[in-house]
Amino acid sequence: MEELKKRVQKNSFRNKITSPEKAADFIKDGMTVATSGFTPAGYPKEVPLALAKKAEKKPLKINLLTGASVGEELDGALSKACAINKRIPYQTNDHLREAINCGEVKFVDMHLSHMPQMVRYGSLGKIDIALVELVAIKDDGRLVISTSVGNTPTFLREAEKIILEVNSSQPLQLEGIHDIYIPEDPPNRQPIPLVDVSDRIGTPYIEVDEERVVAVVFSDKKDVNREFAPPDEVSEQIAKNLISFLKKEVKEGRIPDELLPFQSGVGSIANAILKGLAGLGMKGLKFYSEVIQDSVLDLLEEGILGFASGTSLTLSPAKLDYFNENYPRFKEKIILRPQEISNNPELIRRLGVIAMNTAIEVDIYGNVNSTHILGRRMMNGIGGSGDFSRNAYLSIFTTPSVRKGGKISCIVPRASHIDHTEHDVQVIVTEQGVADLRGASPQEKAEIIINNCAHPNCREDLEEYFSRCKKEGFGHTPCIGS
Ligand code: COA
Repeated sequence: MEELKKRVQKNSFRNKITSPEKAADFIKDGMTVATSGFTPAGYPKEVPLALAKKAEKKPLKINLLTGASVGEELDGALSKACAINKRIPYQTNDHLREAINCGEVKFVDMHLSHMPQMVRYGSLGKIDIALVELVAIKDDGRLVISTSVGNTPTFLREAEKIILEVNSSQPLQLEGIHDIYIPEDPPNRQPIPLVDVSDRIGTPYIEVDEERVVAVVFSDKKDVNREFAPPDEVSEQIAKNLISFLKKEVKEGRIPDELLPFQSGVGSIANAILKGLAGLGMKGLKFYSEVIQDSVLDLLEEGILGFASGTSLTLSPAKLDYFNENYPRFKEKIILRPQEISNNPELIRRLGVIAMNTAIEVDIYGNVNSTHILGRRMMNGIGGSGDFSRNAYLSIFTTPSVRKGGKISCIVPRASHIDHTEHDVQVIVTEQGVADLRGASPQEKAEIIINNCAHPNCREDLEEYFSRCKKEGFGHTPCIGS
């Protein structure tokens, strides 16, 4: 009861408290449900589990919109119950991935920054229900959201009905960490008034019309994030190569001495690179990215990072406990923003972000595949990699030179699917070395990539392909084969 009073401070909201099962009854077959959650953080858990049970008894399918990937209780449970018709915009769940790849679920893979505006203009259809995890409801009805912001402010504004999941496992201390700002839509948009990574331009709370709130549900389930395996030798070497490259850029005056804000992608290589930032031997670096993961907290503690701006706090359970216990040390150093702001092209370009993302494969002309294994099988989605790489001051892609025990080269003659064209890719880094593609023509790029980034066992084949292209192919970017 005490916890309830602390978490739901306004009486009129207390009157709406109900069970997850009753809340799930508001969700009907064919509806579009938009939820909080970004890269397994801050997603609702109890209502989706209740909905999945309902769908197992009586088939129903919803269109599911989120910020980015969400946890097993949402993507996993609903896809296992065959309750997802369409899924937008990003996912990392094994079961859902299978359902997407066998055609059971329609997946719309989108740039994350594009989504809220499309929702506001109705391009993704009407939002029937917004289902949002909260830390608390204030006595004046303002909402304190939890470990991610994602698309939640726009979903709450646009949805016909709202279901709130107040989660007592999420720390009350999160109040104040969010900075909610929704830009006006064109033609009334103004410049977004953010000029430094640490600027606050909005408010820490979200306000909603209370009449649209149809249910308030309690939860004590923790965010479930996967722990990263410790970096292997290859990831460590990629990180070392990247750090040497950045040092050279500083020495040659192309990056200022105090460096520029970093964005880091997701996955095990990205994690190794973050750890490797210590190798720059600098303090007070800035981080303007999406996901604040365990290694970012470590870098903040060590003073290597001075400030971190993201849209989600994606911490392992142990690190989240640590964060709670040591919150005063982090309070002034972290902001969580809507993904429309964390991934905003105007801001990424203004701040001069150094973007570091991981590729599935890169072709000899510098085109990057981030999403499709062998050109067909969806892995996760483009996420924010396009938002950042196209607009960054410096756009870097990392990949091991080979995968699957050396059986597959990640440097390929032609990418089997292209997410980032050669125009958005400036630097490639593998454990073999660095290909700086700035100012290079396609044929120069091919030579640089093969010489610097391909695995020695694959180099000869790639060279042979490229020399055949030059002899038998045609044009500015010569290719052979279909
Ligand atoms: N050919 C075949 N399989 C490949 C492959 C290739 N060229 N490259 C990767 N894979 C497979 C891996 O073997 C692994 O398969 P497994 O699970 O069966 O072992 C799987 O793809 C994922 O590899 P993993 O080692 O887990 O990769 P990662 O953690 O470094 O992530 C991406 C790499 C590209 C999948 C990930 O970074 C991603 O989803 N990127 C797109 C979104 C993004 O960049 N977001 C950041 C914006 S802020």
